Amino acid sequence: MVTTDASQVRVDVHLTPDTLAAALAADVRAGLGAAPKELPPKWFYDDRGSELFDAITRLPEYYPTRAERAVLMARAGTIAAETRADTLVELGSGTSEKTRLLLDALTEAGSLRRFSPFDVSEATLRGAAAAISDEYGVTVHAVVGDFERHLDRLPTGGRRLVAFLGGTIGNLAPPARAAFLAELAEGLGPDDAFLLGTDLVKDRDRLEAAYDDDAGVTAAFNRNVLHVINDALAADFVPERFDHVARWDPDAAWIEMRLRSREAHRVQIDGIGMTVGFGAGEEVRTEISAKFTRPRVEQELGAVGLTVREWWTDPAGDFGVSLATPS
Ligand code: SAH
Ligand code: TRP
Repeated sequence: MVTTDASQVRVDVHLTPDTLAAALAADVRAGLGAAPKELPPKWFYDDRGSELFDAITRLPEYYPTRAERAVLMARAGTIAAETRADTLVELGSGTSEKTRLLLDALTEAGSLRRFSPFDVSEATLRGAAAAISDEYGVTVHAVVGDFERHLDRLPTGGRRLVAFLGGTIGNLAPPARAAFLAELAEGLGPDDAFLLGTDLVKDRDRLEAAYDDDAGVTAAFNRNVLHVINDALAADFVPERFDHVARWDPDAAWIEMRLRSREAHRVQIDGIGMTVGFGAGEEVRTEISAKFTRPRVEQELGAVGLTVREWWTDPAGDFGVSLATPS
């Protein structure tokens, strides 16, 4: 489905409210029917979830956004010079706030013609698309979709720089990550490039604090998935009956986010005719956020035929940004 807001902004919608509800129903049925229980992370991001994530990016404990911004501030000019991209594609674009540094540099280099943000969250995407069209006077071709299902809907042609920032790749479990990277690489032409932001392995205290802040914003974000299920599937979750848990798993090299039921209780999900029982202390896994090392990034990109041409970190070495091209 295509809608055109204004001459400069095109929005392709591959996820309508109906298809979203059907996909959520399938995920809830499978995930809450399994042992241990699990919910996939893309459901955090309704309008309220997107706002809460935006608040997370400004928390003192949440260093990834500031660290990645520092890398982009230092390197955007080099990225523009090396890629000479005419199209900037951004996966999981959210508000595209840091992306403005890339848009500025590509504008200055004189190569930018088109910006293509891609996200599951339609309202956030439309807001960012309109603002960037206004400010940059660039053609915006936005895509509402799931980057695990709709990568083939990205605009083609020209020299594309595909950016995937924020460490969002770490929210995919290893098999899903490998599948995502294979599909992405498959769609890249010889003149395209891939810019990837990855949070890096560091000490447990800082990692766990980044996902369990004192103000409780991350806890509210985690519980928001229950509000999403209540709204979309007529469920009667009381989110406050669940505690937010964030735990670093050093063997898997990921932070695991869970919702832990405070007491034994049942939840009715009318929209899919399901009753779910929770035991006292029972946990639902809602998110992983994998942390990387440079060799790991080089290996995973290499496995799909992408060569890392540049590797940059912020001065503290907290966050890595790599620029890769098809070999
Ligand atoms: N890039 C921004 C936002 C990161 S938050 C930043 O660096 O700050 C992750 C973003 O990815 C959210 O905007 C969320 O809506 C989007 N997202 C999560 N899962 C997705 C999926 N499967 N397909 C498309 N977008 C997704
Ligand atoms: N991509 C972000 C990350 O992994 C998403 C995120 C930040 C997140 N804080 C969260 C997801 C808390 C779930 C819960 O850092």
